Amino acid sequence: MSSKPLVVFTPSGKRGYFEKGTSILQIARQLGVDLDSVCGGRGICSKCQITPSYGEFPKHGVTVSADALSEWNKVEERYNDKRGLAKGRRLGCQACVQGDVVIDVPAESQVHKQVIRKDASVRPVKMNPATRLFYVEVAEPDMHEPSGDLERLKKALKEQWGIGDVELDFFQLNKLQKTLRQGNWAVTVAIFKDHTATRSSIVEIWPGLYEKGIYGLAIDLGSTTIAAHLTDLKSGEVLKSAGLMNPQIRFGEDLMSRVSYSMMNPGGDKEMTKIVREAINSLAEQLTAEAAIEKKSLVEVVFVCNPVMHHLLLGIDPVELGQAPFALASSNSIEVSASDLDLSNMNSSGRCYILPCIAGHVGADAAAVALSEEPNKSEDLVLVVDVGTNAEILLGNKSKVLACSSPTGPAFEGAQISSGQRAAPGAIERIEIDNNTKEPRFRVIGCNLWSDEEGFTEATRKSGITGICGSGIIEAVAELRMAGLMDESGLIGSAEATGSSRCIPEGRTYSYVIYDQSDENGPLISVSQNDIRAIQLAKSALYAGARLLMDEMKIEKVDRVVLAGAFGAHISSKHAMVLGMIPDVPLDKVQSAGNAAGTGARIALCNISSRSDIEEMVGKIEKIETAIEPKFQEHFVAANAIPHKLDSFPELSKVVNLPKVHFNIGSDNKKRRRRRKL
Ligand code: FES
Repeated sequence: MSSKPLVVFTPSGKRGYFEKGTSILQIARQLGVDLDSVCGGRGICSKCQITPSYGEFPKHGVTVSADALSEWNKVEERYNDKRGLAKGRRLGCQACVQGDVVIDVPAESQVHKQVIRKDASVRPVKMNPATRLFYVEVAEPDMHEPSGDLERLKKALKEQWGIGDVELDFFQLNKLQKTLRQGNWAVTVAIFKDHTATRSSIVEIWPGLYEKGIYGLAIDLGSTTIAAHLTDLKSGEVLKSAGLMNPQIRFGEDLMSRVSYSMMNPGGDKEMTKIVREAINSLAEQLTAEAAIEKKSLVEVVFVCNPVMHHLLLGIDPVELGQAPFALASSNSIEVSASDLDLSNMNSSGRCYILPCIAGHVGADAAAVALSEEPNKSEDLVLVVDVGTNAEILLGNKSKVLACSSPTGPAFEGAQISSGQRAAPGAIERIEIDNNTKEPRFRVIGCNLWSDEEGFTEATRKSGITGICGSGIIEAVAELRMAGLMDESGLIGSAEATGSSRCIPEGRTYSYVIYDQSDENGPLISVSQNDIRAIQLAKSALYAGARLLMDEMKIEKVDRVVLAGAFGAHISSKHAMVLGMIPDVPLDKVQSAGNAAGTGARIALCNISSRSDIEEMVGKIEKIETAIEPKFQEHFVAANAIPHKLDSFPELSKVVNLPKVHFNIGSDNKKRRRRRKL
């Protein structure tokens, strides 16, 4: 048995024998235990708090006596008097080992803690931020040994933290001398370490011990909306989130129209770059103001975006992305400073990381979904679909991952739909049609009641019933099919053929009326034949993309489906399958991953090693280009039927019995026209 005391750490289980008098912080460092420190053991930052346990620990084979650690020293007493240490806590840099001891490292003292997310379906984020704070005491200048303040700061960083070759931005050099003197030769520096471990740079310097924390933004830069999450780089907690419409919409709703705008208008790309950067600046301003943090403490941003947004953010003309072979300026990840992107509402030396793009049509947003959902680690074959204006599709498992992008258009978001609208209070988001009466009931955003429940009218008086959002239109079309009001080819039947007076003529076709207040100058909300065509085009593109990947993988079925994207979170799996948006799997094998691209951005922001992971994964993902693949068209045509012309849906038929109806619109109308003539 060793004469040296045994130190056991929980929860890591790491253990070792150490000389009496060694501080717990030193021991933790030697054992590689994750114990934080900003002040380097000077007893001023309190980040190294630990909880010693006393008594019998048969599991660890130790008995811990009351004097296993050195007594409280003056530093701890002073800290306790000033700030208070929770009962049972010690400062790891002050408490020294005297006998066998079990030390618990509480979550808040771990640098690499796991941040448990409220949504259990999304994996936890492990903290390992690229930018961290270091407190250093710098030697004062000496006339007999002349050296610059920066050189002495670098020397102190090397000696006190082992950080060598650190760069300093010109902006920071400007204020270095003042800050060092203000802090009486003690400063806290925020240092960004590149994930390839080749470069460190000083992002900010504060006088003395800076304790207010540093923050980052995880930004999902979409073609329609921009969502930003202000995240604490120590705890991983999202303090505030905000979103706004992408102002580039005025140059074109979809990506290709923005590329065309750039082609047709010299300098158009610059205009779009300018306004998107301004939008990001305004989000940064709003979030820092709401969270009451200073702008210079906002030190990092991670962006996920599609290739066109990627180029426009970086100030690169996206013209090459508009034509085959869809070459990206760079598919690798990109790291630049905030000032390079004109982000003035954050630390100008702060770093911006943009995830790698998978291909000219499959962007950093798809890479972020891959980072969040990890198809490359899946035992079973998983199909991950991020539904938006374009659907990003990943298919794979541990051995191989394929990716493509499919042009679904904006119909799934409620756009180009006669009664369509964006998801907002008053929009119909759920709908059911009774198989016998053919009567609908529905729910709108902002109200938990169904339309046939008591109190619905009062509860929706303020919002009104204004239209149908993306998830609502999917349910509506699928319900029309399930209720026998629409046939496999997507035709809505006439009132005579269906037995429902809600099927009203509209030109040569029919619409199904969901809600009619037109007599009182209110809205008439219906699903028209054109709406169904738009949904058919969107879902066929999505399904054809998935089938193309399945062909490439030489498989006929997948094991599970993950629906990502804000929209994916609201789609009912049953309705999606009735529509034939996704391949047939048992319904409980369809999961929603929420905003997986946003989660991927957060993971890359909080955990620097995930940046290497995704870069490696993207390098291995095989890209399939739907636009030039002849089989895509074949799959697209077959997928037009609802759910599908050729593919059977055995799992779906276990739970849903689709009526075999067939409508012939032309003849119904002809009959009516003939009758009128009589
Ligand atoms: Fe800073 Fe212990 S390391 S107080």
